[in-house]
Amino acid sequence: MLRIINQLKQKVFVFGGYSIDKTTFKFIRENLPEGSRILEFGSGYSTKKLLKHYKVISIEDNPRWAKVYNSKRHKVFHVPITNGWYNVNMVEIIFKTRYADLILIDGPIGEFRKNLPILLFKDVKCPVIFDDTNRIDDFKKMIEFCNKLGFTPMIFHNKQKSWTWCIKDNK
Ligand SMILES: C[S@@+](CC[C@H](N)C(=O)[O-])C[C@H]1O[C@@H](n2cnc3c(N)ncnc32)[C@H](O)[C@@H]1O
Repeated sequence: MLRIINQLKQKVFVFGGYSIDKTTFKFIRENLPEGSRILEFGSGYSTKKLLKHYKVISIEDNPRWAKVYNSKRHKVFHVPITNGWYNVNMVEIIFKTRYADLILIDGPIGEFRKNLPILLFKDVKCPVIFDDTNRIDDFKKMIEFCNKLGFTPMIFHNKQKSWTWCIKDNK
């Protein structure tokens, strides 16, 4: 019983599992100045941690996770899945009205991520993190994103998963 509770705690409340890895968080802390603005696709445990240092705009489809953790620094957009990805019209409006110093792609859950419409990101100049690039579809999408939009990927492998830091070329 205790083992099951511990496994459950690990999945829900700690880095890794559903959330970004601890090393991803550390990398962000070391490379993104305090107070910067992060636009994340997919909200969860690490959102709370990021909010201690950054302003966060969350795009989240699941009402259960579309919650505000810090009213001053946190803006949450509940954006439903439409045709296999977040509603593109809503994301377009968010892109037009909010700027970001970093974009974190960690949603939607599971397979939906392979439907990310790359051209929607054509004006993005800030770094983009793709989480879960150990998964083949996420890896392929990240490579396609970098090739089409002129980003260079730096891939990090950890015990649990891989993630990729993508930087716009000739910025
Ligand atoms: C990979 S999670 C995103 C997690 C978030 N970026 C983080 O690092 O904590 C992808 C989606 O799963 C859902 N989710 C978030 N945390 C979860 C959890 N602990 N258990 C189950 N689903 C979760 C949310 O709908 C979220 O958009």
